[in-house]
Amino acid sequence: MIKGKVITLGVPGGIAVYKVADLASKLTGLGATVNTIMTGSATEFVKPVTFQVLTKNPVHTDLFSSSAEHKIPHIELAASADLFLIAPATANIIGKIAAGIGDDLLSTSVLAANCPVLICPAMNVKMYSNPIVQANISKLKEYDFHFVEPEQGLVACGDYGKGRLSDSSTIIYAIEQLLGQAKDMSGLRVLITAGGTREAIDPVRYISNRSSGKMGYALAQAVNSRGGQAILISTPTCLEIPLGVEGIIVESAMEMRDAVLKHYPHCQIIIKAAAVADYRCESVFSEKLKKDGESLTLKLIKNPDILAELGCSKREDQTLVGFAAETQFLDQNAKKKLISKKLDLLVANDVSIPGSGFGSDSNRVKLFYSDGMVEELPLLSKLIVANKIIDAVKNIRSKR
Ligand code: CTP
Repeated sequence: MIKGKVITLGVPGGIAVYKVADLASKLTGLGATVNTIMTGSATEFVKPVTFQVLTKNPVHTDLFSSSAEHKIPHIELAASADLFLIAPATANIIGKIAAGIGDDLLSTSVLAANCPVLICPAMNVKMYSNPIVQANISKLKEYDFHFVEPEQGLVACGDYGKGRLSDSSTIIYAIEQLLGQAKDMSGLRVLITAGGTREAIDPVRYISNRSSGKMGYALAQAVNSRGGQAILISTPTCLEIPLGVEGIIVESAMEMRDAVLKHYPHCQIIIKAAAVADYRCESVFSEKLKKDGESLTLKLIKNPDILAELGCSKREDQTLVGFAAETQFLDQNAKKKLISKKLDLLVANDVSIPGSGFGSDSNRVKLFYSDGMVEELPLLSKLIVANKIIDAVKNIRSKR
C-alpha cells in the first residue's frame, strides 16, 4: 500500500527529529518516494543531509529556493503528494496550521495540500495538555486532519506523561490505513464496551479496577476509520470519545448491562473490552460513611455476567467478542471463557507482563477462535491490536 506512493514529510524542530529520520528510512524501504521539508529549527537537531541520504531525495528547507523540478516548491511539494506527514508535530506547527498561517516552506505547503494530512504530535507533556494546543487539535480534526496521538512515557525534559512521539510502527500503520483504507466496515454497527465499572459504596466511594478504557477506545476509533458505526459504552475515563463515535457513559455493571441490552439487538458485532466488576455492594449507603469503627465489612453480591447473557441470545448474524485479562493460566482460562460465554472470539492478555494491559498504550494479546485456532500477536500499539481484532472478526464473518 505504501509502495509507489509519494509522501511529503514535514519535519518541524523537536528532539524527536532523530526518530523521524528512522521513520523516513523505513518509509523509503517500503517503496515510498519521500520528499522531506525541514524547518529551520529541525535542521538544528539533525542535518538535512541525513534525510537526503536516508530518503535518496533532496531535502527542502527554503520557501524561496527554486530548482528545475520544483519551480514553486510549496505548491509542487503539496500537489505531488499522496499523503502529507508531519512529524514530530510541535505545538507551533499545529497552532500555525489551525490558524491558517503560512510563513515558511512547511506551513505554506500544508496549506496548499490536497491530500490526507497525518499529524504526529510530540512535545513536552504540559505543552501537549495545554488547552490551547488541545483546542487547535480539535479544530484540525474537524477539518479532517488525521492524528497519531503521542504516547505516554518519559519525555526528553524528564516529565512523565503524554507527549512522546508515537513509535514508527504505529505511524506506518496509520499511513497504510490512510493510503489504502478500504471502508470495509461500512454498513456495520459495532457495540463496544470500555473501562472499568464503578460499584458504589456510598455517595463518594466506589469499588473499581485498573482498566483505563484505552483498548475499547482504540477499537471504536478503528471501526470508525474503517467506515463502521461504533457505539461505545464506557465508564468515565480520561479519554475523549473519538470523533464520529456514539458515546454512552455509564458507571456500574448494572448500568452497563442496561445500555448494552438496549443497543445489542441493533448491532452485528459486539466487542466487550470493559472490565466489568464481578460483584457489587448489596446495599449502597445513602450518606457518606464515617470512620466510626475499627473495621468495616461490606457485603458484595454477584453482578450478572453481561457477556454470557449476550452469548445466550446471540443471533446468526451477530459476532460476539470477549476479553480476558489474566495473571496466570492464560490459555486454560481463555478457552473456558470462550466456550462458557458462547463467543466467536476471545482476546486474552496477561496483564502482569510489562507494556501489556491496563493503562498501557500497547498490548500483547492472544486470539482464541471458536474453531480452536489460536493466534498470538506480538507487542503492538492498542490501535494496531484493535485493527487486528477487527480483521479477525471480518475473517470469522466471511467464513459463514
Ligand atoms: N464480563 C461481563 N460481565 C461481567 C463480567 C465480565 O460482560 N459481569 C465480560 C468482560 O467484558 C470480558 C469478559 O466478560 O469481555 C471476561 O471478563 P473477565 O473479567 O476476564 O472474566 P470473568 O468472566 O469475570 O471471570 P473471572 O473474573 O473469574 O476471571
